[in-house]
Amino acid sequence: MTMFMNACAFLFRVLTLPLHVAELVGILSFYKRVFPIIVNKVTFSYNDKMKDKKRELFQNLDKFYSTKGSLRILEVGCGTGANFEHYPTGCKITCIDPNPHFKSYLEKNMAKNDHLVYDSFIVASGENLQAVKDSSMDVVVCTLVLCSVKDTPRVLQEAKRVLRPGGAFFFLEHVVSDPSTWIYFFQHVLQPLWYYFGDGCETTRATWKHIEAAGFSDLQLRHIHAPLFFMIKPHIVGYAVK
Ligand SMILES: C[S@@+](CC[C@H](N)C(=O)[O-])C[C@H]1O[C@@H](n2cnc3c(N)ncnc32)[C@H](O)[C@@H]1O
Repeated sequence: MTMFMNACAFLFRVLTLPLHVAELVGILSFYKRVFPIIVNKVTFSYNDKMKDKKRELFQNLDKFYSTKGSLRILEVGCGTGANFEHYPTGCKITCIDPNPHFKSYLEKNMAKNDHLVYDSFIVASGENLQAVKDSSMDVVVCTLVLCSVKDTPRVLQEAKRVLRPGGAFFFLEHVVSDPSTWIYFFQHVLQPLWYYFGDGCETTRATWKHIEAAGFSDLQLRHIHAPLFFMIKPHIVGYAVK
């Protein structure tokens, strides 16, 4: 079975070779402008189907107010700001994303969610949060981001650095399926094509292993089956305390 899967995946890699070459020579950079349009559309359906999961997850934000009574949230890979509606009134949001073309969608969502206080939108990757001071955040949020970052352990170490002691890293991410399933098979076979469609997204990551290894003091992590397209059904959800 593994040989058949690898052969099919190889075939898809060959079929996507022109995309790979286009990426190498920079022709695909226009997709950075198109991707926010796609994410903006997909977010409506994702949020609708994942409403209860998000509500349940973000209810836990209440536990991480600072002793001064404030809640400072850093959203890494913020995209269009898909989680804003779930954040409690008055909390202060800093947004980071390496793709500047999300800004207009983000601003629309900020205007819609005027119960929050917006600090800034910083164009940077999660691997390098140098614009954010050590121990300056109560919460760091990553949703549907760790599937695309170049270096997951580095992003988690940066999240830990900017969190105050006792602060928490919140996550909701699609992950690789169990190897005994057809989902696992198709995640690996279709991955070469999915990568380009999803602007670097990988469906084959066991992201929970990195979170478990990141050295948080308390980890609340659940594997769930999301009511979504089969390739991204397996999800992990939870939070990890610094
Ligand atoms: C599928 S979108 C998810 C957006 C949003 N978090 C949500 O839940 O709708 C993936 C996001 O991750 C961002 N991203 C990709 N690589 C990143 C990196 N290395 N560091 C931080 N964000 C990254 C993309 O620009 C995009 O905004």
